[in-house]
Amino acid sequence: MLRTAAEASLSRVSEAEPSRRPEAATATDRPTPLGPSTRAVHAGLPAPEQGAPLVPGPVLAAPYHLRGDTDSAPFGYARDANPTWSVVEAALGQLEDADSVLFSSGMAALCAVLEPALGAGDVLVAVRDGYPGVRGVASDRLAPRGVEVRLVPTDTAVIVDACNGATLVWVETPSNPRLDVCDIAEVAAAAHANGARLAVDNTLATPLGQRPLEHGADAVAYSATKALSGHSDLVLGAVAVRDPEWAALLRRHRSQGGAIAGPFEAWLLQRSLPTLALRLARQSENALALARMLRQRADVADVRHPGLEDHPGHAIALRQMRQTGPLVCFTLDGADRAQRFLAALRLVAEATSFGGVHSSAERRGRWGTDDVPEGLIRFSAGCEDAADLLADVEQALAAS
Ligand SMILES: Cc1ncc(COP(=O)(O)O)c(C=O)c1O
Repeated sequence: MLRTAAEASLSRVSEAEPSRRPEAATATDRPTPLGPSTRAVHAGLPAPEQGAPLVPGPVLAAPYHLRGDTDSAPFGYARDANPTWSVVEAALGQLEDADSVLFSSGMAALCAVLEPALGAGDVLVAVRDGYPGVRGVASDRLAPRGVEVRLVPTDTAVIVDACNGATLVWVETPSNPRLDVCDIAEVAAAAHANGARLAVDNTLATPLGQRPLEHGADAVAYSATKALSGHSDLVLGAVAVRDPEWAALLRRHRSQGGAIAGPFEAWLLQRSLPTLALRLARQSENALALARMLRQRADVADVRHPGLEDHPGHAIALRQMRQTGPLVCFTLDGADRAQRFLAALRLVAEATSFGGVHSSAERRGRWGTDDVPEGLIRFSAGCEDAADLLADVEQALAAS
């Protein structure tokens, strides 16, 4: 049967993609469990080859030489696959022990999980206190198609109860911005008992902070824009799954939708991953130190960070997280004081997004998308020295 070039190229993705993942043995394939920094530094790198670059650079080509039989070449057309994605996908895949698929943004990654999985009559259970983009997709794209959407708080028992009849369960733990925690293993068990699959948005924790697939989740989605890349200079996303058919579907969805990552951004992410362990450890330490300091203050309310012993989800966080992440949230007395505080900060940028090496903060109420007090600050601790960061926050509180 004659096929158009586009059809041929799509079927190559779905049929031949698994063999495109670099198979060469790398340091992270060794049987002894390696530490997180070692894994992050070596993940995805091809096996050493005489005279080859130590670290692969970005490959910007659109078409590749492709004579005759199209299945014989690992790369044909850059919307389907390219060598830079392969390095990044191999790296993320090794960090997750899964097949990882790179997307042009976190939203493209979320949509690639949600949209193909849900049709008329299906039920999506999703957290209502997580990233608002998911609720937007649910109400604007899924509900009009006949998908029943059940929004629930990030509370294990409530999510478990809502799983009855579900098709897909979507959680974000810790949730953003209020940093509530749910038990991934319990939610996965309830989802599976109902024949549903569980997807976890793991943007905040990254694969070094939490590995949801190990606790029973079926898919993990990321905005790589945040801590995964960590330098506030790119927009990317990724999904990790262990089911090869699902991975092929995600790649097909990517090729068909065309929401692909630029190779240069992919390479910037490749370049960022070796420092992920260092960045995340420093950010998590700084966030906890900041939370402890803020908790002592009478003019700051409801300080939240999953590493605080009295955080309601602390015990679960200890079980399922290796690092508690860069975010701290706290509430100041009203929008005006919160804005004065932000304006008085010297080292901390007022910006949305989080997980960067530079600390940033914002008043989440300014967007009108989260059900939070007007004075709630979402603070993303960067990699500065803790003493400097705490001193800056203290002077800004005093000045506001
Ligand atoms: C938790 C979370 N998931 C997904 C996204 C969407 O990612 P992106 O902005 O890379 O599309 C964001 C963005 O802020 C986020 O915070």
